Amino acid sequence: MEYHAALAALRWQLEMGASEAIGDAPVNRFDLPDNPPASRPRRRAAPPPAAAPVAPDPVALARAAAASAADLPALEAAIAAFEHCDLKRGARNTVFADGHPSARVMVIGEAPGRDEDRLGRPFVGRAGQLLDRMLAAIGLDRRSEDENGVYITNVLPWRPPQNREPTPEEIAVMLPFLERHIALAAPDLLILMGNTPCQALLGRRGITRMRGKWDQAMNLPAMPMFHPAYLLRNPAAKREAWADLLEIQDRLRHLAPDDRPAPQRG
Ligand code: URA
Repeated sequence: MEYHAALAALRWQLEMGASEAIGDAPVNRFDLPDNPPASRPRRRAAPPPAAAPVAPDPVALARAAAASAADLPALEAAIAAFEHCDLKRGARNTVFADGHPSARVMVIGEAPGRDEDRLGRPFVGRAGQLLDRMLAAIGLDRRSEDENGVYITNVLPWRPPQNREPTPEEIAVMLPFLERHIALAAPDLLILMGNTPCQALLGRRGITRMRGKWDQAMNLPAMPMFHPAYLLRNPAAKREAWADLLEIQDRLRHLAPDDRPAPQRG
């Protein structure tokens, strides 16, 4: 073929979309036989990818486990058997609660620290000792079984590594257990220590603004307060904590024990 004619033919092929030269002779692919020659066996179509296994929803599992607990010992056992929160793998103990379960006041902290993880009880380290002194200042005591008793638990029953803040996912997974815990204990009021229980039960954080103002969680009066660990680092904030404690004492005086909703203990 003459040079200019060959170049024009090549340009035409490029315009038609040819991008590769694979043979000297053109092949009309519409004329190819239906059955390809035996030497080139037709490739089997790849099987459709198997559907990925659906991971169980840990929140739904927690809800079911919590709902099936008819009383506090059953709830403690359900939490100890729950395998869908990774914190459990790094913890020495499941920290459920301390104090008297029929107390009028239920204190909710964040999560166990090193001492709590070691001993399996909430608020037993330095922050816990300060908490005990704060409660004693308004006549409350976790060892008391009468109207001065206190019941203490945390949003999370397992220590986060290096005491880091719980993630929103960890809080969401364990929230059904906390809600069931409150329903079964049926206190007169809740004390929310720091941002984590506020986030879990009130859906928002900002303890500096929220502290000292009554809120409602699970149909109960709830008082957000500075966490005792924060007070250890910021002693000047004890003045506000003291005001909040007096507010709680006042509420307890005016909230007759008979106003309490019937406990759901089994
Ligand atoms: N801080 C908490 O929030 N809970 C504990 O049990 C101990 C320290």
